[in-house]
Amino acid sequence: MLPTVNPTRTGAWQLLQDHYQNDMKQVRMRNLFTNDPDRFKKFSRCSHDLVIDFSKNIITEKTWQLLINLADECRLKDAIHAMFDGEPINQTEGRAVLHTALRNFSGKAVHADGKDVMPDVKQVLSRMKTFCEKVHSGEWKGYTGKPIRYIVNIGIGGSDLGPLMVTEALKPYWVDGMQPFFVSNVDGTHIAETLKKLDPEQTLFLVASKTFTTQETMTNALTARSWFLQKAGSEAHVAKHFAALSTNEKEVVKFGIDRENMFGFWDWVGGRYSLWSAIGLSIALTIGYGNFEALLKGAYHTDEHFRTAPFDQNIPVLMALTGLWYTNFFGAQSEAILPYDQYMHRFAAYFQQGNMESNGKSVDRNGERVSYATGPIIWGEPGTNGQHAFYQLIHQGTPLIPCDFIAPVISHNALGDHHLKLMSNFFAQTEALMNGKSTDEARAELQKSGMDPEKLEKLLPFKVFEGNRPTNSILLKQVTPFSLGQLIALYEHKIFVQGIIWNIFSFDQWGVELGKQLANQILPELGGNEAVNGHDSSTNGLINAFKNMRG
Ligand code: F6P
Repeated sequence: MLPTVNPTRTGAWQLLQDHYQNDMKQVRMRNLFTNDPDRFKKFSRCSHDLVIDFSKNIITEKTWQLLINLADECRLKDAIHAMFDGEPINQTEGRAVLHTALRNFSGKAVHADGKDVMPDVKQVLSRMKTFCEKVHSGEWKGYTGKPIRYIVNIGIGGSDLGPLMVTEALKPYWVDGMQPFFVSNVDGTHIAETLKKLDPEQTLFLVASKTFTTQETMTNALTARSWFLQKAGSEAHVAKHFAALSTNEKEVVKFGIDRENMFGFWDWVGGRYSLWSAIGLSIALTIGYGNFEALLKGAYHTDEHFRTAPFDQNIPVLMALTGLWYTNFFGAQSEAILPYDQYMHRFAAYFQQGNMESNGKSVDRNGERVSYATGPIIWGEPGTNGQHAFYQLIHQGTPLIPCDFIAPVISHNALGDHHLKLMSNFFAQTEALMNGKSTDEARAELQKSGMDPEKLEKLLPFKVFEGNRPTNSILLKQVTPFSLGQLIALYEHKIFVQGIIWNIFSFDQWGVELGKQLANQILPELGGNEAVNGHDSSTNGLINAFKNMRG
């Protein structure tokens, strides 16, 4: 069982509130830097070719100490042990939370429900490996004897976003000749446009669904199946072209996919934490099993760090606490994730689900409504595109938006001076966000340009940057399978730590159910000509307008 401490009733919370009001509310980061030449050293941490700099935050050593005290009072240590030890900490669904077991290279057993899960984990990984080898060597042939070239992952949410993000981020590692596609949206356009690019003789569909009942995925899978049958002509060929990644063997068999082609996982793997499981087969097929294993090893490296490092050295803990400082004491409502790496263009979207489905909760672990803010809105785009789109608001808008800047030291594309230009922007943005530009600085700059004094005074307020906007900077040596695994796991554990302190359940997602239920009720009402009147007047009106326009 997880602890059920209301964080606002801890002594540390009270002290943090005082600390915010009395010490930190008015603090200027640029002064913190002026007063402490060692600030970078004090507030940055390293872990295997990864450096994270927290120094451009509105924090002092006291802030971190109080936040760590908060974590202690909320019994974070016990919660970490409970997760790694396979206790059923997803209490509203009665399940353990063991994505860490999927990347456990310790050689030690991990128990869920009294059973060591590692033999099953290893068995599925070994089947995935053999399958990848067969596909890549050309031993696995399509119905006309040609090798497989196109991998189509049909899934949604956690059964889509992780594999899509990772395969994109690791494009330089793609196995020659393999091309992945991802179909998620139930909008027929998604599958229709994908099918146009495929050759059925060389296509492998992976139907990825933990439950194997998700409407979007099942609809797309059936469409893919009938498209394939139309081309291939015989049911007998399905076995060579369809595989299932799921926990639900009964539904897989009912759908018509061979048991042999099913790669299983378990209810203790949350959908948004499943890329490490059989759901990662599209990743392994795209980048090769060896690279998939390196991804798992990177995550394992972070797991060990998270499990063992003291909180003041523990990167995910410090990421979580620093984020929570802004959410709960500065009133920040969102966080931006800004990768300066084009290959990582889906990273923010991936953690939008990771964070918002996990910590978008307002009922605490005692079943009571929380009286404090929980999960922030997560968003972001790669730099430098974001700079020319929404950074204006981050620099000069009214909300405080803590940002994570992520960049590789070494680019996979050493083209001229592209990477140095990219990185100069990366460094410049966090410096600008921290320092801003004071009225005096702005005035001096305008005077230097020779501007007429009257015009200058009018323009001046618009040229001032308040600064004091917090950022974390994360430098990876290079985006590799290992470092990406490491990074993803850091964010996963950040989410976990925040959920524990907010006293919420991070591993269920009841909030997505209501809309699904209503859609199932509405679907049959969309057929026929009779007017619909069973809803509120807006919903009735819209459905009837849709039916009339449709004719
Ligand atoms: O959106 C709700 C959700 O349950 C996610 O948590 C999950 O990742 C997604 O749907 C897909 O579910 P499944 O893998 O069962 O198809």
